[in-house]
Amino acid sequence: MRRVVVTIDGPAGAGKSTVAKMVAAQLSYRLLDTGAIYRTVAFVAVNREVGFDAGQALADIATSLDIRFEIDGDRNRVFLGDREVSTEIRTPEISKAASHVSAHPEVRAALLDLQRRLAVGGGVVVEGRDTGTVVFPNAEAKFFLTASDEVRARRRVSELHAIGQPADLQTTLTEIRERDNRDATRAVAPMVQAVDAERIDTSGRSLDEVVADLVARVHRKIAKVNASVVA
Ligand code: DC
Repeated sequence: MRRVVVTIDGPAGAGKSTVAKMVAAQLSYRLLDTGAIYRTVAFVAVNREVGFDAGQALADIATSLDIRFEIDGDRNRVFLGDREVSTEIRTPEISKAASHVSAHPEVRAALLDLQRRLAVGGGVVVEGRDTGTVVFPNAEAKFFLTASDEVRARRRVSELHAIGQPADLQTTLTEIRERDNRDATRAVAPMVQAVDAERIDTSGRSLDEVVADLVARVHRKIAKVNASVVA
């Protein structure tokens, strides 16, 4: 069986991270969380006090980023050099910073190669904003996950509470709307649904239901790819 590339794009809180992790586990595929890469660049920038408008300095951070992922049970741990940054890159401050940092074309260009290298050989589920449009335009299975703003804000609040961060619904809803607007309207690689992506609305659906749906769709894509290889 050919091992394909599966992309899952969509706005914040649509369920991408959890769904991508579970789909990867069920397919025995690797997971590539591209948002964590942008978050780690933002984390370094904030720590070094590099301004969000300093495109080239931010791109330099991206180019030399020493990032590593480690799957540990159901956790996808992120390391910057030897230091684990899994929790620190998930704060609202870094969410906002990542959205600003990721709008720079130089930063996106610097991370393109890294993302493609991390997915070499296929058999990978990639999640982000532009993975089906720009990073892996030839991916065999593409999805665009969405949910209503309120559902997404509620999920984000629960996620933050789960890692011990304070969060309230109204502030989170405002932040999510601002971030989506910035991500969707930037000039380079904006968050848009790829023409060949399947749109999945996760509002009102259980996690297990969405994961089963995606896995079934990926299996159908794999069968199609294999049939065309044989033909
Ligand atoms: O998926 P996330 O919330 O961890 O992503 C954080 C930010 O990174 C998001 O607001 C926009 C940016 N991002 C991006 O521009 N392109 C990607 N492929 C992934 C994330």
